[in-house]
Amino acid sequence: MVTFQLNGRPVQVDVDPATPLLWTLRDALNMTGTKFGCGMALCGACTVHLDGAPIRSCITPISAVAGKKVTTIENIGADPVGRAVQDAWVKHDVPQCGYCQSGQIMSAAALLRENKRPNDEQIDAAMAGNICRCGTYARIRAAIKDAAASLA
Ligand code: FES
Ligand code: FES
Repeated sequence: MVTFQLNGRPVQVDVDPATPLLWTLRDALNMTGTKFGCGMALCGACTVHLDGAPIRSCITPISAVAGKKVTTIENIGADPVGRAVQDAWVKHDVPQCGYCQSGQIMSAAALLRENKRPNDEQIDAAMAGNICRCGTYARIRAAIKDAAASLA
């Protein structure tokens, strides 16, 4: 049994300790907003927050989150920074196919918590691990800047 906080609520899961957090979320807890892309920490589709920091849930064993706080795309809007990011995403119509976007939003929210006014270079550095096959990078950058302005 592994116990942790998921989106502000305590949860207990009975899975092998080596099971990746991604599959625990999707299969054991029915939280399917977090996506599987590569399974090798290369694409960012599976990004969630662990104690506020962005992590790749595809390579994070569930044993590593015991006693910690996990936030997923399903609850990022409860946080003012996450809400601002989501609003900016809608305003800029960022997604194309949408598959990468929950990971993009989680990385963007983590960036804006750390850096309230990121410049282009800082945005590119923070978002470099999140791949978008549809090439929505320009809209992502614009939306992050807009979210930063709305939070100022
Ligand atoms: S699925 Fe985790 S980084 Fe690609
Ligand atoms: S919106 Fe299609 S992969 Fe990013």
